[in-house]
Amino acid sequence: MSESLINKLVRSDVLDMIAYQSARRGQTGGNCWLNANEAGGNNQLDVSLDNLNRYPDFQPSELVNNYAKYAKLTTEQVLATRGADEGIEVLIRTFCTSAQDNIVICPPTYGMYAISAKGHNSQTSLVPLTSDLQLDIPALTKQVGNCKVVFICSPNNPTGDVLKREDIISVIELFKDSALVVVDEAYIEFCPQFSFAELINSYPNLVVLRTLSKAFALAGLRCGFTLASKEIITMMSKIIAPYPISQPVAAIASAALTSEGLAVMTDRVKTTIALRSQVEQFLDKQTWLNKRFKSSTNYVLFNTELAPQLFSFLTEQGVLIRNQSSQLSLENCLRVSIGNEQEIQQFIDAVQAFNQSINQSTSNN
Ligand SMILES: Cc1ncc(COP(=O)(O)O)c(C=O)c1O
Repeated sequence: MSESLINKLVRSDVLDMIAYQSARRGQTGGNCWLNANEAGGNNQLDVSLDNLNRYPDFQPSELVNNYAKYAKLTTEQVLATRGADEGIEVLIRTFCTSAQDNIVICPPTYGMYAISAKGHNSQTSLVPLTSDLQLDIPALTKQVGNCKVVFICSPNNPTGDVLKREDIISVIELFKDSALVVVDEAYIEFCPQFSFAELINSYPNLVVLRTLSKAFALAGLRCGFTLASKEIITMMSKIIAPYPISQPVAAIASAALTSEGLAVMTDRVKTTIALRSQVEQFLDKQTWLNKRFKSSTNYVLFNTELAPQLFSFLTEQGVLIRNQSSQLSLENCLRVSIGNEQEIQQFIDAVQAFNQSINQSTSNN
């Protein structure tokens, strides 16, 4: 088929669409990957590959049992998905009528809400965070009746901190008769006291997204969870693929959610938080730093006028971080993930080499 035929066949909005530039798509190469908020260490895994001739269960019971226990919910309130990203997509496909219904997002925030909406030909209404990076409740109030799903990311990616609990509750209540409020808790293991999961029993329009990609160090596995009322999970189960969780994924993820697996995860979180303090203290000493954002996660966002130069220099050194400068209100902002000790040292060394290079060029001028 010629390219022009494909251009004629494809949905016109897909023709113009720009795909999500994930860390493994837009930014390649390097030998120190601090650009995708992954964990720095691998898991010790021992998995059986027996029975691959059989389709897996729609929702593998050991996996769902283990997650329900971890989240203190019932198994009927849990849907296992291919990463939290699939939860986002299935929510939009289940609740938004294509070319008719809207979602609301609060930028700067995680990019996949808008991309998934676009893929489904749903519109996205933007209600930017306030200057102190909190929810704009008066502006959100104006969206009541205009949308089906409101996405709130807390802790927020890429800014790093949680949104005020009372504001999130106000939003859930504002939309209680008209829209789902989805709280994306991809990073909640780094600040578990801020979770909304337990409120699922009190608010029928509340949905919580979770993942094993961050604190559980299983980004390559592609396993996430949607937590919500039985009614919401039942509707999503009609739309999601028939076998979303492969048998090896179910086996590995179930093991990560046993009490031993959870203890390993909790230790990893402690180590990551200690390394994060080290990175924060290092950044605070940099003369070029304009602002370091408070983090409750495994990444730190910072602002410097030298963002473009620093980003290119680090890339040349093989240290990949994420440039967030194209996000609303985040001009000159870079985000570094908290990898392992050796990766953080490599980042620090590369930043110090950058400092030398700018000192040299100013002394030569
Ligand atoms: C806020 C947020 N939500 C969801 C995801 C997607 O997670 P998963 O790897 O489970 O698809 C990410 C990944 O970076 C994220 O930052």
